[in-house]
Amino acid sequence: MSQSLSNMAYLGAAILFILSLGGLSNPETSRRGNLFGMIGMALAVLATVFGPRVSPSGVGWIVMALVAGGGIGLYAAKVVKMTQMPELVALMHSLVGLAACLVGFASYVDTSIPLQGAEKAIHEVEIYVGILIGAITFSGSLIAFGKLNGKIGGRPLLLPGRHWMNLAALVVVVWFGRAFINAHTVADGMTPLIIMTIIALLFGIHMVMAIGGADMPVVVSMLNSYSGWAAAATGFMLSNDLLIVTGALVGSSGAILSYIMCNAMNRNFISVIAGGFGSGGGAAPAKSGEAAEPQGEVVPVSATETAEMLRDAKSVIIVPGYGMAVAQAQHTVYEITRTLRAKGVNVRFAIHPVAGRMPGHMNVLLAEAKVPYDIVMEMDEINEDFPDTDIAIVIGANDIVNPAAQDDPTSPIAGMPVLEVWKARTSIVMKRSMASGYAGVDNPLFYKENNRMLFGDAKKMLDEVLGALKA
Ligand code: TAP
Repeated sequence: MSQSLSNMAYLGAAILFILSLGGLSNPETSRRGNLFGMIGMALAVLATVFGPRVSPSGVGWIVMALVAGGGIGLYAAKVVKMTQMPELVALMHSLVGLAACLVGFASYVDTSIPLQGAEKAIHEVEIYVGILIGAITFSGSLIAFGKLNGKIGGRPLLLPGRHWMNLAALVVVVWFGRAFINAHTVADGMTPLIIMTIIALLFGIHMVMAIGGADMPVVVSMLNSYSGWAAAATGFMLSNDLLIVTGALVGSSGAILSYIMCNAMNRNFISVIAGGFGSGGGAAPAKSGEAAEPQGEVVPVSATETAEMLRDAKSVIIVPGYGMAVAQAQHTVYEITRTLRAKGVNVRFAIHPVAGRMPGHMNVLLAEAKVPYDIVMEMDEINEDFPDTDIAIVIGANDIVNPAAQDDPTSPIAGMPVLEVWKARTSIVMKRSMASGYAGVDNPLFYKENNRMLFGDAKKMLDEVLGALKA
């Protein structure tokens, strides 16, 4: 393939990636967005493999790597459960970081194209910065993977003097950067490069370990952004324009998402990154999923009683959370919605920006169950409607409906906006036990006078509610 044809293909791929991002901003156009992304990526891969910079003898190696990597990706995509998606994404971010590190080291030891003067300095800065971002992304994403799948506890690790440690790490990285650029031989430059890589790896671990459970959404989107910048840095190292453009698109859209997440959670971006925001002072959170000290009595209800209350209601708001994803209850939820709407009940959904374990998690599940988009409301659109609502039914959600975020300034989730379900005439919380949510904080909602607890697996309970509604 000639250089100009390859450039044309790269341009086409870049446009498709931009269209893809545009499509993904709305559930109705997201399928088309995904399709654009897939075509763009196929075009990019073909233009690279058959482009002028790959010698015919190298094609075999690339195809072998494509088959191996593609095979593993296909297998992972087939076996992964919807609830494991966030951890898979975190793992993939770590691979982008690892690739940036490996490409960085490879381009440093590759002296086949001799560079001199400013050109050499610029290339070395690209390598140094690329490996720095790559290493932080790699280790940070691995820790995020562990935190998301529960292998590492959600409690923030707050080392004494951690901000000073971070600052010292930054100074040392800059110092060794100078030594790296001034090195005359590859052997001389290797020591500062390796030391910086180790510091960056430790920084990535420290940064994510210091973040408390409820702030994880910001970290997930931030690592998404880092993986984009790592890819862009790889593009600079390899002089590949498409990789630079694509990396910058992922990096900037991830940064915007992190900003939106911070706003949604009423968090200051810098404080979250610096670690431990909102975790000082108050009671230490329990381990995610464990029950905290009970604060009173709860009133349990049965599925039949729930169905009766729903039948008598005029307006119902459904709040889905992570437990709905675990139970795969979205189809039954929609069946119940249709049954109630057929009886003239006004049923709507309230979606919290960090419900579930990844951005848009609940929207994806509801779209899969074919819930109409016009009854799915964002938190800001519906939060004021709870006082005029008969029943608020919470399906496997916990942190996002925790009044302690408003009432208890010492709570680890203090200040996070929540769905005010307790303001409805009656709220019904559907979950299996009294266990806490992801942030490991007890929920005073459970003990409110107008709250009822429907204990059990969400799918099983909703099937019973549906049966009783239809009886
Ligand atoms: P959580 O606070 O994690 O609560 C989910 C609840 O679902 C749990 O208390 C659990 O209680 C219940 N549950 C689990 N399996 C169930 C099942 N089969 N049937 C019924 N209930 C079940 O979820 P949330 O309210 O959606 O809040 C999300 C949390 O995750 C926030 O803290 C958020 O910061 C964090 N987070 C979000 C993201 C993104 S980007 N969305 C990423 C990382 C972390 P039982 O065990 O008693 O059933």
